[in-house]
Amino acid sequence: MRDFIIAPSILSADFARLGEEVDQVIQAGADWVHFDVMDNHYVPNLTIGPMVCKALRNHGVTAPVDVHLMASPVDRLIPDFIEAGASMITFHPEASRHIDRTLQMIREGGCKAGLVLNPATSPDIIEYVIDKLDMILLMSVNPGFGGQKFIPSTLKKLRHVRKMIDNSGLDIRLEVDGGVGVQNIRQIAEAGADAFVAGSAIFNAEDYKTVIGQMREELSK
Ligand code: DX5
Ligand code: ZN
Repeated sequence: MRDFIIAPSILSADFARLGEEVDQVIQAGADWVHFDVMDNHYVPNLTIGPMVCKALRNHGVTAPVDVHLMASPVDRLIPDFIEAGASMITFHPEASRHIDRTLQMIREGGCKAGLVLNPATSPDIIEYVIDKLDMILLMSVNPGFGGQKFIPSTLKKLRHVRKMIDNSGLDIRLEVDGGVGVQNIRQIAEAGADAFVAGSAIFNAEDYKTVIGQMREELSK
């Protein structure tokens, strides 16, 4: 069986207790920490930057930190996130003038690199940079906020991108972000995803271990 990654989005965590929240969610069985960077320019919301990533590392977080840049321009932020301890960095192609160069910058800095496709962005953009991708993140909501509803057309796009990855023979993670929960995670996996971002579904739950356990159970069916 494929290994499935569960990546809680700390956007829905209690920022006043962020270190503790991340520790708890990792202890509860999460694999990665999904770190949403919003700049009030590329998306209409403002969140956290490299200093917070560094603070989590200094706090003792050793789990992979999956940095999702919803910021434009992206290039200036990349060295800072590499320095701050990011493990993977994904960005939206609309936010970079030179996508190929940005991907190279990320890899040269020792991080895994990926592109994020908005619900209406065509996957064609992947074709000529597929050899520079470690992951592809498909947005299943419009970026900017947690707690939105999963957009069903993502399932079709997932199947398409899964084929592109399989045909390439490359080792590329296919991650989904937005509106993911216990009720739809299995369907999303069946469409080809192998990494799942979940913010509100995990952090709004009474017990992190229970909800992550329920997600794994759905994935093992
Ligand atoms: C949205 C962010 C997501 C968000 C997901 O722009 O990229 O990572 O936190 O939140 P939920 O899981 O609540 O849809
Ligand atoms: Zn995200």
